[in-house]
Amino acid sequence: MDASTTDKITAIRRSRGDSLAILAHHYQCDAVVAHADILGDSLELSRKVAGLSARDIVFCGVFFMAETAAMLAGPGQRVHIPAPDAACVMSEMAPAALAATVLGRLRATGRDVLPLTYVNSSAAVKAVVGACGGSVCTSANAAKMLRWALDQGRGVLFLPDKMLGQNTCDALGVPADKRHILDIRAGGAQLDLAAAAGAEVLLWPGQCVIHSRFKARDIAAVRAAHPGARVVVHPECAPETVQAADAAGSTSFIIKYVAEAPAGAEIFIGTEINLVSRLARRYQGEKAIRPLCLSGCSNMAKGTEENLLAALASLDTAAPVTVPEDVRGPATAAVEKMLEVSAR
Ligand code: 13P
Ligand code: SF4
Repeated sequence: MDASTTDKITAIRRSRGDSLAILAHHYQCDAVVAHADILGDSLELSRKVAGLSARDIVFCGVFFMAETAAMLAGPGQRVHIPAPDAACVMSEMAPAALAATVLGRLRATGRDVLPLTYVNSSAAVKAVVGACGGSVCTSANAAKMLRWALDQGRGVLFLPDKMLGQNTCDALGVPADKRHILDIRAGGAQLDLAAAAGAEVLLWPGQCVIHSRFKARDIAAVRAAHPGARVVVHPECAPETVQAADAAGSTSFIIKYVAEAPAGAEIFIGTEINLVSRLARRYQGEKAIRPLCLSGCSNMAKGTEENLLAALASLDTAAPVTVPEDVRGPATAAVEKMLEVSAR
């Protein structure tokens, strides 16, 4: 950590006082996390933004997170992101125009399919979803939100993460023959509408390349070499990986799982390496925390202390993150529906 960069950030935070709030996702590096007023998973950070009074909100994470924060920010509040080019690769697997086309083709069959998008999606996708009365979920509330969507009785389009979709279907007991992974190639022209008609949950074929690296065979190897060790993974991992693990949940769930494990526990974690390394350091000498394998999110890694300082130094001059007016309304409605349903 560069002491002068650290000191400059500390000085700006001190001078700005309550008019500045720095939010960071658990996958940010320690140098950035050290400056965060609020550290959390996607759901916690969305909830917190809605209640903040700071004029400037600096969001250390990937772009969809800052964009969601910009939607939830109040009048006069400005959201900044130190690394605007930090895109979530999974969110880019569902372009808004294609999502609208696919949803339109599914609905043209006469079935009023309800879309539910993972928060790891663009504001434009959230707007497509919100315009149809659909909503958003995070990994922390996916089961509750999919239950809500299924209860509308119309069939659900879950996007963009087929892994989280499948794992949530497993958790809710949606049978495998009632799920259908969509073929979105050729601009949606290759959809199998007959197969889609027979399914309750239609899954967009996106996934997180970082979490796809954790395999069930890695867990089998851990169990053979470390009898008694526990394994906890993020639900963006493949269903076979989640099924082989002892537990699966959001980044906050993983942190709680480790905190609640007894002293002496050995725990292998299947999620982004910054979080695993932080937990390993925090519990050093008390619990053995190890990565299931090394997997880092290169976009989360774009958040550095240097670009945090640059963002803080230009709070009054840089353009904040904005969401076009026609997108903002329906996209915010979809997110606010999530906040309302998940608080029930
Ligand atoms: P959480 O909502 O669990 O923090 O996860 C966000 C994410 O991008 C995981 O890859
Ligand atoms: Fe997106 Fe995966 Fe990175 Fe999370 S870990 S931000 S889902 S690419």
